Amino acid sequence: MILKDKKIVVTGASRGIGKAIVLLLAKQGAQLAFSYANNKQLAEDVLKDVKNISPNLDHSIFKLNLNDLDNIKNQVTELKNQFKQIDGLVNNAGITCDQIFPLMKEEDFFNVIQTNLIGTVFLTKQLLKPLMKSSKASVVNISSVIAHIPQSGQSNYAASKAGIEAFSKSLATELGRKQFRVNSIAPGFIKTDMTEKLSEDQKQEILKQVPLSRYGNVDEIAQVASFLLSDKSSYITGQTLHVNGGMFG
Ligand SMILES: NC(=O)c1ccc[n+]([C@@H]2O[C@H](COP(=O)([O-])OP(=O)(O)OC[C@H]3O[C@@H](n4cnc5c(N)ncnc54)[C@H](OP(=O)(O)O)[C@@H]3O)[C@@H](O)[C@H]2O)c1
Repeated sequence: MILKDKKIVVTGASRGIGKAIVLLLAKQGAQLAFSYANNKQLAEDVLKDVKNISPNLDHSIFKLNLNDLDNIKNQVTELKNQFKQIDGLVNNAGITCDQIFPLMKEEDFFNVIQTNLIGTVFLTKQLLKPLMKSSKASVVNISSVIAHIPQSGQSNYAASKAGIEAFSKSLATELGRKQFRVNSIAPGFIKTDMTEKLSEDQKQEILKQVPLSRYGNVDEIAQVASFLLSDKSSYITGQTLHVNGGMFG
């Protein structure tokens, strides 16, 4: 129960990595509020699982579209009423919209930057007050190995993830004196809907770059997120943890 009594917010937890994170954090004693963008039913199913794990805690879900900057403030109003203090925030929600740069539409570039970087930064700003009420706040931003070994067709995604890592380090420097920690996790290729979209050829090509010779699974990212949220990592801030089967780091 390394997260007992911690109130933690996780974005994009209706499926994939975010879902694995909330299921693990619930087992470790955290009280959770987590978001979905479109798949309310999936989020409600995850909420049911989370409530089965810890029925005594008041877990909740909320709708959040990080691409809708005008509304982020409204979308978290209720959350802020529920959680006057927040001990952990996992900025997990993210999207891809791949295309080689000469053919990429402007809106696809901006959508990815807006969702993965600007929306995430804006949400963090909205939750700063309740986070600063915690004596040991920990923010975990989910980046990507693509911020470090860029891949053709992902210029928008690489720029968004490099930006979020730079943002994490700046925030860690500014808020460190308050024992407020900010770190990033840069996953390699993990089996989720996001990587399911890749062609068979792309998947085989990727595997050749991974010394462990397999895709990661969502629990392998959740374990690292839990560590960074817990007091076990109390002297780690401003870092990027690479979880990629050895392909970079
Ligand atoms: N999978 C990988 O190999 C991999 C590798 C490196 C980094 N990552 C990063 O890990 C994070 C999770 O990836 P994943 O593979 O688990 O993704 P996923 O399976 O595609 O799930 C994405 C999650 O984000 C939510 N979401 C989608 N658009 C959103 C928006 N505009 N605003 C707010 N939330 C939105 C989705 O909600 P709905 O279900 O409601 O649409 C869903 O909960 C992302 O930041 C991704 O960039 C993934």
